[in-house]
Amino acid sequence: MTSPVPPEAAARAAELREQIEHANHEYYVLDAPSRSDREWDRLFQELKRLEEEHPALRTPDSPTQRVGAEPASRLEKTAHLAPMLSLDNAFSPEELRGWEQRNARMAAEVATAGYDVEPKIDGLAIALTYEDGVLVRGATRGNGTIGEDVTRNLRTIREIPLRLRHGGVRVPARMEVRGEVYMPLSGFSAMNAHRAAEGQSTFANPRNAAAGAVRQLDPGVTATRPLRFFAYAVQLDPRSTDRLPVQTQSELLDGLRGWGLPVNELAAHRDDLDGVLEYVAEFESTRGTLDYEVDGVVVKVEPFRLHEELGVVGGREPRWATAYKYAPDLAETTLNSIEINVGRTGALNPFAVLEPVEIGGVVVKLATLHNEEDIQRKDLRAGDRVIVKRAGEVIPQVVAAVVTEGQPRGEPYKLPDHCPACGTPVERPDDEAMVYCPNSACPARIYWGLVHFVTRSAMDIRGLGEERIRLFLEQGLIRDVADVYALTGEQLLALEGFKEKSARNLLDGIAESKERGLARVLFGLGVRHVGQHAAELLARHFGDIDRILNASVDEMVAVHGIGRTTAEALHGWAQHESNLAVVRKLREAGVVLTEERGEAPSGDFTGYTFVITGTLPTLTRDEATEFIEARGGRVTGSVTKKTSFLVVGEDAGSKAAKAQELSIPQISEAELLALPPVLAAKAAEAAAAAGLSEPVKPKRAKKAKRVPAEEPAEAAAPDATES
Ligand code: IVH
Repeated sequence: MTSPVPPEAAARAAELREQIEHANHEYYVLDAPSRSDREWDRLFQELKRLEEEHPALRTPDSPTQRVGAEPASRLEKTAHLAPMLSLDNAFSPEELRGWEQRNARMAAEVATAGYDVEPKIDGLAIALTYEDGVLVRGATRGNGTIGEDVTRNLRTIREIPLRLRHGGVRVPARMEVRGEVYMPLSGFSAMNAHRAAEGQSTFANPRNAAAGAVRQLDPGVTATRPLRFFAYAVQLDPRSTDRLPVQTQSELLDGLRGWGLPVNELAAHRDDLDGVLEYVAEFESTRGTLDYEVDGVVVKVEPFRLHEELGVVGGREPRWATAYKYAPDLAETTLNSIEINVGRTGALNPFAVLEPVEIGGVVVKLATLHNEEDIQRKDLRAGDRVIVKRAGEVIPQVVAAVVTEGQPRGEPYKLPDHCPACGTPVERPDDEAMVYCPNSACPARIYWGLVHFVTRSAMDIRGLGEERIRLFLEQGLIRDVADVYALTGEQLLALEGFKEKSARNLLDGIAESKERGLARVLFGLGVRHVGQHAAELLARHFGDIDRILNASVDEMVAVHGIGRTTAEALHGWAQHESNLAVVRKLREAGVVLTEERGEAPSGDFTGYTFVITGTLPTLTRDEATEFIEARGGRVTGSVTKKTSFLVVGEDAGSKAAKAQELSIPQISEAELLALPPVLAAKAAEAAAAAGLSEPVKPKRAKKAKRVPAEEPAEAAAPDATES
């Protein structure tokens, strides 16, 4: 409890985010997923839990935040002229030679045709459509075929010409210029420093920050972010007969420069693979001095003629290019001890205290350790020499212990049986890797519970931060969240650091927070599994806290979007007199414990039930769920006879087989996005056939009367699914 968010929690969150992003990247960009659906889910759930415990960790770029009203899900979809490809990787000179040899078997010339080498910028790929030299559209890569229209945002990047310069290579009538949007490290640190000073959440790494900025709904926000761009490719309209008068990648880069587009100055030509390997070796030390993150070198066969000959593997990865990736930064140091932080939900989070060691220019003192299982699997023991890894802006992790035979070692690690903060025996739920302190009066839990309660997404109490919470706890002024509302000016003025004005401001902030409404209070109470979304659903459905606390598990599960785990957790919470006492105190203090009631919106999906399986190419689970629910559809967890559609992504497991068995239609994400107009048309057709003027809904349609919550999110562009 010595710093705002414990570094180990921040580290773990960053690591999880990195792993999830990495998994997404592998899936979307590299088309080489290395994690199963289940593993992905586990990482995602852990991150969600951690962010619930430490809301300050909930950065806008977090994968958990891509829900509902999030800008990204409301961006229009747009189809690329031709798929945006990904790259295969090579991790050693041998692998790079293997790549050339395989290519040489298809086209012997490659070995002598020369290579173009370019830094692999760690940003996000975009496509800029120019018509007669004028920028008409900008899109993200999306799933390669369909991206998001971010034209207005990309227009704010000064380096991106709105009109191309003529001169040099003739500008084709229509083309996509492709390249990478990135955030320079200097801009990234400055932006984060500024955000931190303003009390805003900070971004985990420049790539996330860039991606978040590009996918904003409000271009005004994008404009304030320090984004840059490098162009590296052109895609002509495959339906036209247009040809670019350039024969090689290097000539193309010159052409791009001539049009006024920024091209990386470190891109170079090398005559052969030895030359490429020299470049790769030299560049390894250069890259640390650059003001942007580079995760490798892209090697491209020069002549376009050979690109056609070599072709593309599976329509995704060209044979004519590959990415040489550098090994991550590693260092060896001593694991001084394994410490525990107890979070709001009581989870015991272990972290490593290291003998400080420099890795890639940064001194590392702490590293994340996920849970007991992970520590035991790696067999890490206090006193061990360990390998610590740090990749880019990512928080360090302990990879392994370095043990020499016969060397004396400490005891194998075991998480304590008692909570280190309060001494209560810990609990180990069967289905979880985490260990919990069950004592709701545990000082660590109370502290983090209060921090959660006052946070922006909960009660948003202006002027009440972690320092003051700690002070009030120490002084015995507060014991639970409701006590915040009993603080008096007199009490505050008696404390060091409070003056008339600051005390008044804080009391005003506290008073203001009483009006936030039930959903925020419910979320703020920090019941395990009751996140922001669940709190909103429950508040809207029940309308009042007593109804929620008196509801049975089944009544809660009947609410669209509420699962059994959440319902059971909340129901269990409501059985404790101490919790009910807090609620009573909140009511007596005048905190609003009601919310306007309303049902889920209705729309083209009303009456249809969807199951989502596997990793979807562009939408997260939450986004897909949001898309469906905003149109009145229902998302459930398992395939039954009642399922209308199974939305299938990569790595789909048994659900696809089950759907096959039950003859349930399986659709892709693109088909899902294009579905609303199809279903609407079908309903209209059925209505016409039946001589009705109103469309017929399927028989399991919901109750007739509804209060539409808001306009449903965007309707996907149906033309985006031509592929
Ligand atoms: S070429 C073959 N060149 O890396 C076409 N990509 O892993 C693939 N990237 O989606 C793109 N710098 O986001 C190319 N100089 C560069 C690149 C680069 C970064 C990214 C790009 C792409 C991903 C492929």
